[in-house]
Amino acid sequence: MNAFRSLLLIAVLALVHPPNSVSIAAPKTRDYKHGTARPVPSKRAKSSHAPYESKACMVCHNKKKRGRGVGRPKKNMTKICFTCHSELKRVLGKYKHMHKPVKAGCISCHNPHNSAYKMLLMAPKPRLCTNCHVSIKTSINLKVKHDAVTHGASCSNCHDPHGSNIEKLLLALPYDQCIGCHNTNNLKDEKGRLLMNYKTLLGKSKVKHSPVEGKDCSSCHEVHGSKHFRLLTEPYPERFYAKYSKEEYALCFKCHDEDLVKIKTSRTATKFRDGARNLHYVHVKEPDRGRTCRACHAVHASEQKSLVRAAVPYGSSGWKLKLHYIRTKDGGSCERTCHGIKPYSRNKR
Ligand code: HEC
Ligand code: HEC
Ligand code: HEC
Ligand code: HEC
Ligand code: HEC
Ligand code: HEC
Ligand code: HEC
Ligand code: HEC
Ligand code: HEC
Repeated sequence: MNAFRSLLLIAVLALVHPPNSVSIAAPKTRDYKHGTARPVPSKRAKSSHAPYESKACMVCHNKKKRGRGVGRPKKNMTKICFTCHSELKRVLGKYKHMHKPVKAGCISCHNPHNSAYKMLLMAPKPRLCTNCHVSIKTSINLKVKHDAVTHGASCSNCHDPHGSNIEKLLLALPYDQCIGCHNTNNLKDEKGRLLMNYKTLLGKSKVKHSPVEGKDCSSCHEVHGSKHFRLLTEPYPERFYAKYSKEEYALCFKCHDEDLVKIKTSRTATKFRDGARNLHYVHVKEPDRGRTCRACHAVHASEQKSLVRAAVPYGSSGWKLKLHYIRTKDGGSCERTCHGIKPYSRNKR
């Protein structure tokens, strides 16, 4: 093929498969205008603005030409807000990232008079935010929900609604936020199962999975909500035993080569082999219902190399099965757990 034709082909392919089409979709935000920010009846008000309470209507309104009541609101309303909220103005001026609607005007989120919600908000969170952020609305309605989003300050648990020096308007770096909440022994998921204490776990473990070492929890977890178990970004089997398919393990194979498990005999696909016999294949793929990675690996961190775990939680009671893994120079062995002593050696012919 001549150079011109191959260039043409690349151009056509780029049209059919734009280079970024498989990566994260751009956040879907829609223009949204809450209703007119007129005063709400005082018995419904949960918050009220000092200048409104003190009837200083003319701070923000022009005089009405004729009749009773107030005239139209003045122009440059944000500037008027800043005459009293100078501290916020100062802080906003220092932020590297300003939230776009703040530039457009404070009344896209605040009622300048009073409100049926806290902080003069035009709507309660998360609705205030998801009215514009429609893709986040989709995420938080998925099957697996995150308490971080649905409880407390909701979106403001992690984002500053006005601006921030950290990308995505975050209050702290993502990893510090995760560890900031996942640092207790009594956090439970919605089914009442205890979650691990990540501060302790990551503090004491000698070996950390590379993305965890890189403090990138988001490489495997969605924050807002997910259709996959444990808020995972891709499918991963929920149970101890599962019939093998590449799709079921999409999470691991996003970064690892499937050959690790897929090829029956190989001297290169994995170090977990006896001679050329691939023991990942033996355990994960060969049986009708293979063992999932968690049977041997801790996915966040572990005491031993290769993230091999000391014990495996088995069944719903949380009973732990000891693994007794011993590493050798060219292999290793597992003892007295699932089977008798079974050594493996990569050098075996
Ligand atoms: C902090 C500034 C501020 C103060 C103080 C204020 N307003 Fe307003 N008011 C506004 C703004 C801005 C709007 C326009 C809201 C919009 O367009 O959504 C408005 C709109 C209104 C409206 C609705 C107008 C319409 O077109 O439907 C009424 C009624 C109103 N104000 C009455 C009052 C009264 C009465 C007071 C004093 C007791 C008062 N406001 C004090 C800023 C203020
Ligand atoms: C005349 C001065 C003045 C102007 C103008 C003003 N505010 Fe305020 N605002 C106040 C005062 C005083 C408070 C109460 C501060 C406190 O409690 O610390 C307040 C509180 C608030 C609060 C917090 C409410 C709460 O329940 O704690 C918000 C939000 C707010 N203002 C938004 C605005 C917006 C938006 C504008 C412009 C449309 C504006 N303010 C203009 C004086 C003003
Ligand atoms: C995108 C929505 C949004 C916009 C736009 C917005 N705010 Fe807010 N603001 C909030 C929320 C939400 C809170 C409640 C605090 C929280 O959740 O952290 C808040 C809290 C406040 C408070 C009280 C607490 C504090 O941080 O001091 C003030 C005052 C305030 N806003 C003023 C303003 C002013 C002035 C503007 C315009 C320059 C503005 N806001 C624009 C969402 C918004
Ligand atoms: C009036 C519409 C509107 C509301 C309400 C709103 N946002 Fe936004 N938000 C936007 C727009 C527009 C952008 C800029 C999107 C872009 O640049 O593509 C944005 C950007 C963001 C970003 C940064 C995205 C990035 O890629 O950097 C975050 C995080 C965010 N908003 C969170 C919130 C939260 C939390 C709330 C509620 C407190 C909220 N938003 C309310 C319109 C809104
Ligand atoms: C537990 C912390 C946490 C909570 C709660 C949270 N977020 Fe986020 N949000 C993040 C992190 C971390 C990111 C950046 C990583 C990512 O894109 O997933 C982010 C990214 C975003 C973005 C940018 C999306 C993109 O694809 O670039 C928007 C918009 C956003 N959040 C809005 C919201 C809204 C709206 C809420 C409330 C419904 C909310 N967030 C609640 C942590 C949180
Ligand atoms: C504001 C506190 C808070 C923050 C910040 C937070 N979490 Fe959570 N998270 C919780 C709570 C509470 C639960 C237990 C209830 C539930 O399952 O939602 C939880 C549950 C989870 C679960 C299990 C969900 C399930 O139902 O199976 C995962 C996974 C998770 N969080 C990951 C993260 C990651 C990753 C981050 C950082 C990006 C993070 N969390 C930040 C409070 C938080
Ligand atoms: C390489 C992918 C990966 C990374 C990176 C990762 N996780 Fe996980 N996480 C998982 C998988 C897979 C599970 C389900 C484990 C299982 O059931 O065997 C899980 C489960 C969880 C759970 C619920 C189970 C429990 O007992 O706590 C929480 C909470 C959690 N992760 C938080 C985090 C935090 C915080 C980080 C960042 C420090 C992080 N994860 C980084 C893959 C990952
Ligand atoms: C975001 C990318 C990413 C994801 C997703 C991921 N890993 Fe990894 N993993 C790595 C990197 C990078 C390394 C270190 C380089 C290497 O050994 O290939 C690694 C190493 C490992 C190791 C060897 C650790 C050592 O010390 O030699 C194991 C075991 C492992 N991963 C298991 C898993 C399992 C199981 C899953 C799915 C639940 C998974 N990984 C998902 C990136 C990832
Ligand atoms: C029966 C136990 C067992 C199961 C199940 C298992 N592994 Fe392993 N894996 C090991 C052992 C043992 C090693 C260390 C081999 C060595 O270095 O001698 C290892 C090593 C690895 C490595 C390091 C690179 C390599 O191949 O040597 C990765 C990556 C890995 N496993 C990923 C996975 C993934 C992904 C799954 C699930 C699809 C999985 N493992 C299931 C026992 C297991």
